[in-house]
Amino acid sequence: MRLHTHRNHGAAALSSLLLLASSTSAFYLPGVAPTSYKKGDLVPLNVNHLTPAESQQDQEVRSVFSFDYYHHSFHFCAPEGGAKYISESLGSILFGDRIQTSPYELKMGINETCKAVCEAQELDARDAKWVNRRIWQNYNLNWLVDGLPAGSLRFDANTNSEFYLPGFPLGDIKDDKVVLNNHYDIIIDYHQASKDQFRVVGILVEPSSMRDSKFLEKGKGECGDTSNPLHLSEKEKTKVVYTYSTYWRPSKTPFATRWDKYLHVYDPRIHWFSLINSAVIVVVLITMVSTILLRTLRKDIARYNRLDQLALDDLSGTSAVEDGVQEDSGWKLVHGDVFRPPKNPLLLSVLLGNGAQLFMMTGFTIAFALLGFLSPSSRGSLGTAVVLLYTFLSFIGGYVSARVYKFFHGEKWKQNIVLTPLAIPGTVFAVFFLLNFFVWARQASGAVPFTTMLVLVCIWFLISVPLSVAGSWLGFKAKAVEEPVRTNQIPRQIPPASGYLRPLPSMLLVGVLPFGAIFVELYFVMRSIWHSKIYYMFGFLFVCYGLMIMTAAAVTVLMIYFLLCSENYHWQWRAFATAAMSGVYVFAYCLLGWAQGIRFAGVTGAVLYLGYSALVAGLVGVLTGTIGFFASWLFVLKIYGSIKVD
Ligand SMILES: *[C@@H]1O[C@H](CO)[C@@H](O)[C@H](O)[C@H]1NC(C)=O
Repeated sequence: MRLHTHRNHGAAALSSLLLLASSTSAFYLPGVAPTSYKKGDLVPLNVNHLTPAESQQDQEVRSVFSFDYYHHSFHFCAPEGGAKYISESLGSILFGDRIQTSPYELKMGINETCKAVCEAQELDARDAKWVNRRIWQNYNLNWLVDGLPAGSLRFDANTNSEFYLPGFPLGDIKDDKVVLNNHYDIIIDYHQASKDQFRVVGILVEPSSMRDSKFLEKGKGECGDTSNPLHLSEKEKTKVVYTYSTYWRPSKTPFATRWDKYLHVYDPRIHWFSLINSAVIVVVLITMVSTILLRTLRKDIARYNRLDQLALDDLSGTSAVEDGVQEDSGWKLVHGDVFRPPKNPLLLSVLLGNGAQLFMMTGFTIAFALLGFLSPSSRGSLGTAVVLLYTFLSFIGGYVSARVYKFFHGEKWKQNIVLTPLAIPGTVFAVFFLLNFFVWARQASGAVPFTTMLVLVCIWFLISVPLSVAGSWLGFKAKAVEEPVRTNQIPRQIPPASGYLRPLPSMLLVGVLPFGAIFVELYFVMRSIWHSKIYYMFGFLFVCYGLMIMTAAAVTVLMIYFLLCSENYHWQWRAFATAAMSGVYVFAYCLLGWAQGIRFAGVTGAVLYLGYSALVAGLVGVLTGTIGFFASWLFVLKIYGSIKVD
């Protein structure tokens, strides 16, 4: 466990929580059965798309697109008979992987130096310009050997440890000159499992640039000198010979722990700090909510019920006056309106149904990841899990939407059934499709292939929609949630709101706290998406998700209590909107991440970034809004259920 160095000996209540995070963050199951090779066996090397990496100097990312390895401008050598796609999981494709075969020949345990990959390639001025630009944008090559990414060796001064960072650079900038790496030293760590069983347990690639390399014959080359690097001229044709050497190093690392070197925690202190920070927020909030609410509520309820009793005991009429005076404040006054259906109940119930679906999906995904089922060693398993869980949980979505709508006395139940599986997933899909169109127009490889899109649509209409309809049907059949108090015929007048109870201030105030519980982990998740880093600290994520749920619930309930006390009974939309404000904070945070670490060369990159950020922020908003609403709903049912109203 790599996080033990900064274990905090803090409050006893927190320690078990923290222990959970520390013991699970470095835990994963090896996703694939080990492949053993005999000495001299060919170990396949596959190539994935090229991705933009951070620049070494300023940690900035200069592009958001990824490119196919065999994009014509690169002129990389293809295997004889053309490259073939390696079949991948749905999640892997959705998240951008394009894995293909390569002409590289690695023979288990046999060192070979300076092999030419193919005959000299000619890059004309246009291609040279294009490639030079990619080098300037720090594009990385991503190779896979036996499912393991080829990395570069890095040293982290914070933790004083070496680790393998997946990917290695396409080129370099030396003395203000862009040079292309055309030679690769492939260093493979292998582990001897038994007498003639060798396994791949680590890959490093050290690329270099040599102008004078020559192609001699098939598989044979002559390597130049690194002191004379290869620069692609943007004025005339340049010949490029790709060469490679393979070195096999025996290693003690067994197959089961071969991913350890890749899963590096950059600054464990930040995670701990954030976790303790959010835990403190939650503890403070929960204490606040419970003391304020429990004490005042108990008093309120006791007073209301005592007054009731008095009124019953003494029917002479004098106490009725007293009753009226005494009761002239507080949340009891709105008992005849608090269950009045909100405006636009259809939309709210659809949002809540989808929110419940997202809520369950997120919880299950993080829990599965935490248990090690979605380790980075089985590529794309996370994406696949998200898609499948979302599909199957649409049953929950339909059910919740229907029950809430019934509670709101909604009558357009057909629209409810149809809109629940279509509105939000449809919007998500439309945005996704549109953004994909941009990527496709750029000829980048991040574009999801049309067939995959088709598969998604099929899954959606053939599985998701029917399940949702079934859920809705069950939801409508179920008995409506009972209202503890009757609703009056005539709506009460609502006194004008003041201060923090006005809609916008209340939203800004409530939304910031759930966001506060997750923003540090969000930072790392964002980096894993845009800066191509592996994210696997699901232990932290799981705890943060739990803290976010508690924060959202507690703070919304508190706000709704104050709202009802101010005799405003429009709590339904307010509960949803105040908690959903977290999504807006998430979006603002994405903008900050853009300002700090990403520089886009073109408009399309920015559109892509903003589009995906808005999509994620919107979904986070629906999710937190749903948490806020259901917490408030339970709260309202509970408090009005505990007073007697005649
Ligand atoms: C292959 O190269 C590596 C790294 O230079 C070295 O440690 C190893 O001993 C070499 N193996 C053979 C069989 O020469």
